[in-house]
Amino acid sequence: MNLQPLKAFGSVLIAILGVAGCVAVETTTEPQDYWAPISTPFTDEEGVEERIDGIVVRMSIEEKVGQIIMAEIQSITPAEVRQYHIGAILNGGGSYPSTERYSPLQAWVDIADAFYDASMDNTDGKVAIPIIWGTDAVHGHNNVVGATLFPHNVGLGAMRNRALMREIGAATAREVAATGINWTFAPTVAVARDDRWGRTYESYSEAPEIVAQYAKEMVIGLQGHPALGNVFSAGKVVATAKHFIGDGGTTLGDDQGDTQIDERSLKEIHGAGHIAAIEAGAQTVMATFNSWNGVKTHGNKYLLTEVLKNQLGFDGFVVGDWDGHEQIPGCTSSKCAQTINAGVDMVMVPTDWKEFYNNTIRQVRKGDISTERLNDAVRRILRVKIRAGLFEKGRPSTQPFAGQTDIIGNPQHRALARQAVRESLVLLKNAGLLPLDPGQKILVAGAAANNMPMQAGGWSVTWQGGDTSNADFPGATTIFAGIQAKVSTAGGQADLSVSGKFETRPDAAIVVFGETPYAEFEGDLEEGVDFESENALKILRALKGAGVPTIAVFLSGRPRWVTPEIDAADAFVAAWLPGSEGAGVADVLFTDESGAIQHNFVGKLSFTWPASPDQQPINIGDAQYEPLFPFGFGLNYQDDAPER
Ligand code: BGC
Ligand code: BGC
Repeated sequence: MNLQPLKAFGSVLIAILGVAGCVAVETTTEPQDYWAPISTPFTDEEGVEERIDGIVVRMSIEEKVGQIIMAEIQSITPAEVRQYHIGAILNGGGSYPSTERYSPLQAWVDIADAFYDASMDNTDGKVAIPIIWGTDAVHGHNNVVGATLFPHNVGLGAMRNRALMREIGAATAREVAATGINWTFAPTVAVARDDRWGRTYESYSEAPEIVAQYAKEMVIGLQGHPALGNVFSAGKVVATAKHFIGDGGTTLGDDQGDTQIDERSLKEIHGAGHIAAIEAGAQTVMATFNSWNGVKTHGNKYLLTEVLKNQLGFDGFVVGDWDGHEQIPGCTSSKCAQTINAGVDMVMVPTDWKEFYNNTIRQVRKGDISTERLNDAVRRILRVKIRAGLFEKGRPSTQPFAGQTDIIGNPQHRALARQAVRESLVLLKNAGLLPLDPGQKILVAGAAANNMPMQAGGWSVTWQGGDTSNADFPGATTIFAGIQAKVSTAGGQADLSVSGKFETRPDAAIVVFGETPYAEFEGDLEEGVDFESENALKILRALKGAGVPTIAVFLSGRPRWVTPEIDAADAFVAAWLPGSEGAGVADVLFTDESGAIQHNFVGKLSFTWPASPDQQPINIGDAQYEPLFPFGFGLNYQDDAPER
């Protein structure tokens, strides 16, 4: 049957409805052809569907409803998991076993075991189905004190090193496996198009191609891949492509706002990372908080079911975001048939899960949610659990790497992170000052110089990244510590002076400054992207006045308008949010003792750097494009001194 006329008719209908101001929540339109079916790597699986059949027929409605609910570990006990047959748990940002930040590794594994045992207890005659635990390991296993923290995605994007992405994924997966957890809510495949968005740093790039390339490698690193023979083998965890779809495209960069864009651009820009992730085998996709043209995605059947599942052919499961369903008109956190009917298979109901459970059972009995739909959601969850080997892997504590303290913050993982730091640094200006001779007297100044919370950013031990100190990052190296180690080995001297004051004149100064930590909602910028560094600018100017050659190292989750600071420094480095391995900065800034360059700058901007505070949004490909530094910019030691 030729669907073209039908499709055209559907679009016209939507257009008319749109003009009339109606909100077409559910359309019957066939997805456009440009949403081409994806071939996923899980093709010749034997017996999986039969196995699912065999489980589903034995499940009661109550068990099925329990299976599609995810609760937060502070709000549910193993006994409740046993009683309600809950399918999944998560620990939110800054949530630890017994709310104890310094929980030893064994405490993580112990509760993983306790929840697992509860889910496998079939003494009440119900079906044993292993629970799955999800965590936000978004730049390393960042809720765990002592874990390796990789640079946030904005920095990784600047590396343009796909092979390293796979290794970072694999290292992250091992640290997650060490806690007895089998699932991470990563990678974020957002294509951030307006840097006022507080989650820009979770985005690899404003360019869809980079996000797609990285999404693929990250998924393969985390899960393994059937063609490599290592899928869900030792130390591999389930990945999540998030957030589907359009999270980086909201008007004004408003977190959870409205992405107003035509459908083809939605696919081309914001779909690129999802498609690549699914092609690489990503087993879960997280629905996004944002709306698309006025409709909340958690309730958008067209996007979640028609496009993602029916047309693209995604056969894993869609997980909702944190109470994301409650934003659908007519829903509350504890009641929302709409989200399940739209296509969310596993609903994230962190606290009100019990009420949600009871309400959903009632809705199924009343027919508000069909048995077919409920079965489909359950089947998808079981498919992922089977593929991930959860039925065979046994108790979390018996799985490879679980409880191994040498895996958390492992030296090899830290070495990878340090390499990532080196490669993510973008040199924006160098008036002949860099590289530095480590045998000199170096002054290290600025609030971020010896400050792990600023180096790590949000989603680091706590959700917003606040309420922490260097002591919360054991094993980490601050940028100052890295410089000090390099310089003292070479016979030089590095002095930390946050204020920039000095007694004897240094040969050169490094001023490290930047944004203080933030995460979703709180990181949005209401006005422009200008940055009131005040103190840093004063320090830079004072040093200049004193004739000290000065390098500015800027820590931020996105480009900011810092032209006065750039002008005041002799060299300027965008270092993003580098994470736990600050020594990577000194690796590049300094030569070795003989004066030879050890590591050149290789980072290239994956985001356009604005020429004025209000130059947002600005993205490569814009018809009008006059940035301060274009996408792809980045100097190295061979380049001539730039104009600025
Ligand atoms: C975020 C997700 C995250 C979830 C669980 C939400 O607020 O949007 O990215 O995975 O919380 O912590
Ligand atoms: C949790 C986060 C979550 C957020 C959503 C926080 O309390 O720790 O993981 O994303 O709430 O509101």
